[in-house]
Amino acid sequence: MRKKMVSQTSRRDFLRSVGVSGGAGVLYSAIGALGLAPAPQAHASEFRSPRQGDFTSVGLRNGRKVIILGAGIAGLAAAYELRKAGYDCRILEAKNRPGGRNWTVRGGTTETDLDGRTQTANFAPGHYMNAGPARIPQSHVTLEYCRELGVPLEAFANQNANAYIYHENSAALAGKPVRWRTAKADAYGYVSELLAKATDQGALDQALTATDKERLLEFLKDFGDIKGRDDNWAYTGSSRRGYSVEPGAAFEAGTVLAPPPSLSDVIASGLGLRFSFEFDYQQAMMMFQPVGGMDAIPRALGEAIGSGRIEYGARATAVTNRPDGASVTWVNAQGRSVTEYAHFVIAAIPPMVMARVQHNLGSNVTAALLSPQPWEAGKIGLDYRSRWWETDERIYGGVTPTDNDLCSIWYPSYGYHGNRGVVIGYYNALEPAAAYGRLSHADRESRAVSQGVKIHGEKYRTELASSFSVAWHRTPFIEGGWAGWSSQTGTEYQTLNRPTGNVYFAGDWLSNTIAWQHGAFTSARKVVTEIHTRVLAR
Ligand code: PHE
Repeated sequence: MRKKMVSQTSRRDFLRSVGVSGGAGVLYSAIGALGLAPAPQAHASEFRSPRQGDFTSVGLRNGRKVIILGAGIAGLAAAYELRKAGYDCRILEAKNRPGGRNWTVRGGTTETDLDGRTQTANFAPGHYMNAGPARIPQSHVTLEYCRELGVPLEAFANQNANAYIYHENSAALAGKPVRWRTAKADAYGYVSELLAKATDQGALDQALTATDKERLLEFLKDFGDIKGRDDNWAYTGSSRRGYSVEPGAAFEAGTVLAPPPSLSDVIASGLGLRFSFEFDYQQAMMMFQPVGGMDAIPRALGEAIGSGRIEYGARATAVTNRPDGASVTWVNAQGRSVTEYAHFVIAAIPPMVMARVQHNLGSNVTAALLSPQPWEAGKIGLDYRSRWWETDERIYGGVTPTDNDLCSIWYPSYGYHGNRGVVIGYYNALEPAAAYGRLSHADRESRAVSQGVKIHGEKYRTELASSFSVAWHRTPFIEGGWAGWSSQTGTEYQTLNRPTGNVYFAGDWLSNTIAWQHGAFTSARKVVTEIHTRVLAR
């Protein structure tokens, strides 16, 4: 899934390919060239927000006007940063809320999809599902915005040793939910056993000195919890697998879950393929979520920008680049067509949606906008009247990956020990998401529930109170979970990472972290820097 989405190209190659040697660096040297600031050695990813004083110091009035299409994260971030220097920003948003894919569904949330199906969520007060982004890595600038905006955070459990892995199509152990910790103990254990044997039998003598071998064996004993040389390095299971009877008081030592499946079955199960997730740069713990729902971020950005600067129900119909600026025509909430002029326009809407907006930017721009392929993606929130995953299964947050069409089940990382909770019954992409997307909401629910029953038993059905599902590719004005390029060095990507006259493009789809808010923020920062630099250097 990741492979197709993220280009093979390194960040440095990408920067070189579009001729950008670092946004803030350009801005600093532009100011520096005007004798206003030293030109420091800025790191490529550093960002300097435009400031109120920047204009006055070059003898400009603060009157530069920017119209932004889309109040998703990229559009909001662009306006938020430009406002710091006093730009006159106006955001046109087709939906009736900010955030775009950053969308938190609560009781009363209602949405009609592109197939005309309307759902209304019935979640209890305080309960929600993050229908779009739901986990934030520590490296992402998203956290910097949370800090700056005062959005409180809490841990998001992305890995939980007590969650399961569920494979039903594997060559062994099919149809048995296996605790993450158990599967990991077995995979690491047997791999360690094999490597220790090979090492000790001299199979690696070409690569290892005698000292290396002893040290490696010591590592493998620890890594896999295997026996020593006298027992031929055997993996026979250990308490890392978990217990069938928990350790207790006095002489209750507990009963270790045993025996492990055979080496052959462990390999054939494919369960070992799940653990690279823990190493993934974006997916490793610790991860975070805003307290109370991800939409705290767009809400805070919207408040900082000022509600009067965001127009909802405004559908852009035309963007026209002009010698001295650009204009946008849109149909407003009352159905009237309005045209306004600005110095700059930032199109921060999905590329395939922008491709249908009339424009004079050239057919190469249209072709480029149609180049990234939208991905189907879906989620269902299952609202339960008890927290059986905590009380019965000791799962407090985390994710159970599956090899069926659910792809994953997520347990809520909030509201522990409460009376109820919302489980994400599936989070999937591509074919499985397309398949669920074709179903009515009721059919999505019954399909997801019958899949989940295989893992969690009948309570998965009997404790269910209500549900809400989203198929992003069937969501108006959004039309995809995200959009992925076949190449992030090709001319299409380059074309849209440059302004066409006074029209700029921004979004996670123009970043190296597609399908993350970080991508939207960094893309917005890049465009803000370019516009501000241009204005200051006029
Ligand atoms: N950011 C999204 C997620 O964490 C989509 C994504 C998945 C992006 C995997 C990259 C890799 O689910």
